[in-house]
Amino acid sequence: MQTARTIAQLRQRLAAARRAGHRVGFVPTMGNLHEGHYSLLRLAREHADCVVASVFVNPTQFGPNEDFARYPRSPDADAAGLQEAGCDLLFLPSVEEVYPYGVEQCVKISVPVVGATLEGALRPGHFDGVATVVGKLFNLVQADVAVFGQKDYQQLLVIRRLVRDLAFPLEIVAAPIVREAHGLAMSSRNQYLDAATRAKAGVIHATLLAMAEGVRNGDSHAAVESAAAAALAAAGLSPDYAVLRRAADLSQPDPGERTGLVALVAVRAGSTRLIDNTLIQPQS
Ligand code: PAF
Repeated sequence: MQTARTIAQLRQRLAAARRAGHRVGFVPTMGNLHEGHYSLLRLAREHADCVVASVFVNPTQFGPNEDFARYPRSPDADAAGLQEAGCDLLFLPSVEEVYPYGVEQCVKISVPVVGATLEGALRPGHFDGVATVVGKLFNLVQADVAVFGQKDYQQLLVIRRLVRDLAFPLEIVAAPIVREAHGLAMSSRNQYLDAATRAKAGVIHATLLAMAEGVRNGDSHAAVESAAAAALAAAGLSPDYAVLRRAADLSQPDPGERTGLVALVAVRAGSTRLIDNTLIQPQS
């Protein structure tokens, strides 16, 4: 695996892959990698000959009171894990390299509507930061395909919208959520949780499955959402939301809608926020 710390190095190293006619796959990350990320790498490999991963904790997607400073960083372990997962090129830029005019004065990309609800409403500016850095990274890597986890479902929709509206010439592939044994979706933030909280966070996945079941059983959306919020609270988690939305764009479904829905949950477990979701499949 090669490592590029500057844009010039990245371009130079990618040029060789392009000259060889290789299809380039890209997995953007904020590091502190776990099995969920490595599953994205493996999926990228299925779609590409040359797999590029970036590790960059992006300051513009964190709010002023969020965990940018304490976000877990483990560059050595990440590099070793990426190498083992078959990554060809690691892009490990500094903040200055990505934001040459500084984070306050950078050109920003804003994705309205789908980026403004749920996480966008609770974390103002978050998706502007995500869209801005991902747009920059897409310009730098010029991949043929990029892989994003379905765990960050709203982020996935924001990226799809970004790609279509700004006509980035690449395909977005969604990777399934990877879960711990008791159902908790893998996330770098899980390591903030103590053992007891981590164990009870398994209720998030159970709640999502119950929401899907409720929709399939014909329960009202309001009943499904309030039962979910109650189940999360009863487990000692503070729900920010537990909602049913249209999977295509996160708009509010009509009361009778039963198909094309996604259940989304965000909770606070102490000072840690956890998000998860499930697409609601019809009864098989
Ligand atoms: O999902 C993440 O890790 C980040 O939001 C991303 C896409 C790497 C942008 O910083």
